[in-house]
Amino acid sequence: TKHYFCYNTMLHIWVWSVGGLDVSTDKLTLIEAKNGSTVLLPCTYYSCIGIEQLYFNWQYKENETMSTKLCEGEIALEGAHPKVSVFHERVEFVGSSEKSNISILLWNITFEDQGQYSCFARNKKEKYRNNTATITLRVVDQMKEVDNTLTVIIVSVLGGVIGLVIIVMVIKALVVHFLQKDDAKTKECLVSSSGNDNTENGLSGAKADNKATPKA
Ligand SMILES: *[C@@H]1O[C@H](CO)[C@@H](O)[C@H](O)[C@H]1NC(C)=O
Ligand SMILES: *[C@@H]1O[C@H](CO)[C@@H](O)[C@H](O)[C@H]1NC(C)=O
Ligand SMILES: *[C@@H]1O[C@H](CO)[C@@H](O)[C@H](O)[C@H]1NC(C)=O
Ligand SMILES: *[C@@H]1O[C@H](CO)[C@@H](O)[C@H](O)[C@H]1NC(C)=O
Ligand SMILES: *[C@@H]1O[C@H](CO)[C@@H](O)[C@H](O)[C@H]1NC(C)=O
Repeated sequence: TKHYFCYNTMLHIWVWSVGGLDVSTDKLTLIEAKNGSTVLLPCTYYSCIGIEQLYFNWQYKENETMSTKLCEGEIALEGAHPKVSVFHERVEFVGSSEKSNISILLWNITFEDQGQYSCFARNKKEKYRNNTATITLRVVDQMKEVDNTLTVIIVSVLGGVIGLVIIVMVIKALVVHFLQKDDAKTKECLVSSSGNDNTENGLSGAKADNKATPKA
């Protein structure tokens, strides 16, 4: 199993979301950021058999036909300082040798920066196997917490409705229960009306009757 795990742990994109730390490999991750803000495009590289001549780059895919290289670099050995070239004026390499962090910052984003950002890496020790992890950047006017709010609203409404249904059912059950009790009482009263002094005995008799009926 260690072997299996080993070959499945390559590129990581770490994203802090509402739910906590989300780790994704080779799969789409969405980052939403406000127009004019600066975003961290996170990516780390890990290999349990070690790193040697790790080549990496970041590419921006605007549409199906246009793809540009934002930066590229190399890490000679595990823990070595990365040698990096940056080709985009608003891109800053903020990675480090620690955990082979090859993250970048994209400064002052605009709506034109929307699209897919791919972190690519290949390691000599893994026979230059291609590894890619992709982040989709969505630029928004305002950081709206609509998604979250909507979830909260839906959960609240659903919870409210379910709660209401339960309350209604409980009330109904109680009402039915008391109506039956009342019926029993009235019947008992009618029966015991012949002997006025026997009301208490009659009532306890009704209670005993009530307890006995569900068992039957
Ligand atoms: C986006 O932000 C930039 C810089 O903050 C600003 O100049 C531009 O007007 C904004 N665009 C929109 C559509 O809000
Ligand atoms: C892709 O984007 C480039 C640059 O903005 C543009 O020139 C090209 O027409 C676009 N291609 C498609 C298929 O949209
Ligand atoms: C980002 O915008 C700020 C304010 O407009 C500016 O001072 C800064 O130089 C910009 N940074 C980059 C990398 O373009
Ligand atoms: C990678 O480096 C960036 C910039 O220093 C940091 O914000 C980020 O947390 C690091 N990621 C990991 C997984 O260490
Ligand atoms: C990695 O990808 C490049 C081009 O995308 C391709 O030429 C190369 O053969 C691939 N390498 C492997 C080991 O799959």
